[in-house]
Amino acid sequence: MPKSPTPLAAALAAAGAFATFEPAAAQMPAEPVSTQLVDALQGVFGSHAGRRRSGAKGFCATGEFTATGEGERLTSAPTLRRGSRLPVVARFSIGGGSPAAPDNGPSVRGLSFSIDGQHEFVLINTPVFTARTPESFVAFLKVRAPDPQTRQMNAPAIAAANAANPDWMPQIAYLRDNPPPASYATSAYFGVNSFVFVTPQGGRQHARWTFEPVAGRIGLTPEERQARGPNFLEAELRGRLAQGPAEWRVLLQMPEAGDPLNDAVAAWPANRPTVEVARLRITAIQPAGGPAPCDGQMFNPTLLPDGIEPSMDPILTIRAEAYAVSLSRRSQ
Ligand code: HEM
Repeated sequence: MPKSPTPLAAALAAAGAFATFEPAAAQMPAEPVSTQLVDALQGVFGSHAGRRRSGAKGFCATGEFTATGEGERLTSAPTLRRGSRLPVVARFSIGGGSPAAPDNGPSVRGLSFSIDGQHEFVLINTPVFTARTPESFVAFLKVRAPDPQTRQMNAPAIAAANAANPDWMPQIAYLRDNPPPASYATSAYFGVNSFVFVTPQGGRQHARWTFEPVAGRIGLTPEERQARGPNFLEAELRGRLAQGPAEWRVLLQMPEAGDPLNDAVAAWPANRPTVEVARLRITAIQPAGGPAPCDGQMFNPTLLPDGIEPSMDPILTIRAEAYAVSLSRRSQ
C-alpha cells in the first residue's frame, strides 16, 4: 500500500524539490518481508479499523484442553502431560482481511487458541498453506490486488501467475475439491507447519498437528450454500453449544524418512502414523455484540512450552513478526 507522504515530504514535493531530496526508488532500503506481507494483505482486502489484517471476520470462544498422556513419549511439554486439563481462549475466523467475508464462500476457515497463555495454536482447515515461502505469498497476494479505479481483479494476470507458481496449486485444488464446512464444529483444522517435539532425554521428532472433529467432517451441500447465506457460522455454533461442547481429537502426525519437514504446501501422506495427544472442547462463545476476551489479543503460533520447538519452515518463521505488524495496525 502506498504510504501518504509526510508533511515535510509533501511540502518539498509541492515546491518541486522532491526529486533532489528523496533517494531514488532503487536505493531505498526494502521493507522487511513481514511488513511487505501485511501491506500485500491490505492491497487485496484494504484496512479495516480494529480488525486483523487476516482472519478479520471471527468471534471468540472458551473451552478446555485435556491431555491424554500419549504425548509424553514425544515431548516434555506440560500442556501434553497426563492429567493436564487447562482453560482455553479461542477464536474462529475466516481467512483474509475482509470483515464481511461470506460464511458460505470457498475461502479458508481458522481456529486459534491459547492454552492458559503457555502454548498457542493458529490452525486452518486446509492441510496445506497458500505458498511455500513468504516471498511467494507476497507475489500471490500482489497479483490479486484489485485495480484501484475499477476494484476488479486482473483475471488473465492471476491465471498466468498461477501457472508460473506451482506451489500455489495444492491449496487452490483443496479448496476447489472440498466444500466449505457446514459448521466450525464439523471442520478439521491443521497446523500445516511442522514443529519439533523434544523429550527430556534429548529425543527429537518432527510432527504436525491435525484436529479431527468428533462430530465428523461435514461440508455444505450446494443447496445449503445457497440457503444458509453469508452469515450463519456464529449462530450455528451458538445453537450447537447449547446442546453440549464442540470437540476435536488432537493428533500428532509423524513423517517417514524422506517426507519434507519444512514445506507448508506439501502434506504428508494420510497413512503416516498419528498419536492422539489431547482433546479440545469448546464450551461457550462470546456474548453476541459485546467485547470479547480475544478481540484485542494476538495468537502466536511460535509461543511454545519447553519440549516443543519451531521447525525451520520459512512460513512458520515469519508468522509471529507478520502478526505483530497486523496487531500494531489494528487501530488504523
Ligand atoms: C507467511 C505466512 C502467513 C502470513 C503472512 C499470515 C498473516 C496473518 C496475519 C497478518 C494475521 C492477523 C494477525 C493478527 O492481527 O492477530 C493472520 C491471522 C491468522 N492466520 Fe496467518 N499468516 C500466514 C500463515 C498462516 C498459516 C500457515 C496458518 C495456519 C496454519 C495461518 C492461520 C491464521 C489464522 C487462523 C489467523 C486468525 C488468528 C486469530 O483468530 O487471531 N496463517 N495471519
